[in-house]
Amino acid sequence: MSADKSSIVVLISGAGSNLQALIEACNAGRIAGKIAAVISNNAQAYGLVRAKEARIPTHIITHTAYSNRLTFDQALIQQIDCYTPTLVVLAGFLRVLTPEFIHHYQGRLLNIHPSLLPKFPGLDTHQRALDAGENVHGATVHFVTPELDSGPRVVQAQLDIIPGETARSLAQRVLALEHSIYPLAIQWVLEGRLKMGHNGPEFDGKPLTTPIVFNT
Ligand code: GRF
Repeated sequence: MSADKSSIVVLISGAGSNLQALIEACNAGRIAGKIAAVISNNAQAYGLVRAKEARIPTHIITHTAYSNRLTFDQALIQQIDCYTPTLVVLAGFLRVLTPEFIHHYQGRLLNIHPSLLPKFPGLDTHQRALDAGENVHGATVHFVTPELDSGPRVVQAQLDIIPGETARSLAQRVLALEHSIYPLAIQWVLEGRLKMGHNGPEFDGKPLTTPIVFNT
């Protein structure tokens, strides 16, 4: 790894389309950093194939091999810290992390969630948005805190829900938004434009009281 580039470790569990977007953004220079490693808790995750094709080191740390969340998270920390990352990026990582893990990476741990948080934390966000009769929906990048999907929101992208739309079509459209805002948010963090200050997130040195929203 070249010493001049910030190092990013990406945690995945599944398809890895966000990981692919980050790989492409790094290759295109839209992220001035390097993905040093990809770690999955699921040996079958297709994201591992994407990482290997991009010649990124991969590690599988299977959560079922650990007796509790803390020992699993400690194994994750040990592996992640081998790469001294500037940023740890959750990209479809389907495990709830312990407060110990989250504190260890405080201010340098980002997640992307497929809803306009604080609406619809947790799973099945697209169907829940449809069931709730929402007109708009989208995705949120946030710093991670111990409360699930509740950390400070920094970037959102939103779209209008089309009448008659299904959860499947909505998921595809939201995923496309994720692929554009996640690289951007990560680049802003690496540049120092976006950061966690003592009193919350800051953008260009000013408090970021509401997320930066892109309308599509
Ligand atoms: C994305 O919708 C992301 O927001 C959520 O999990 C999904 C991961 O998709 N956290 P992929 O594995 O990046 O394709």
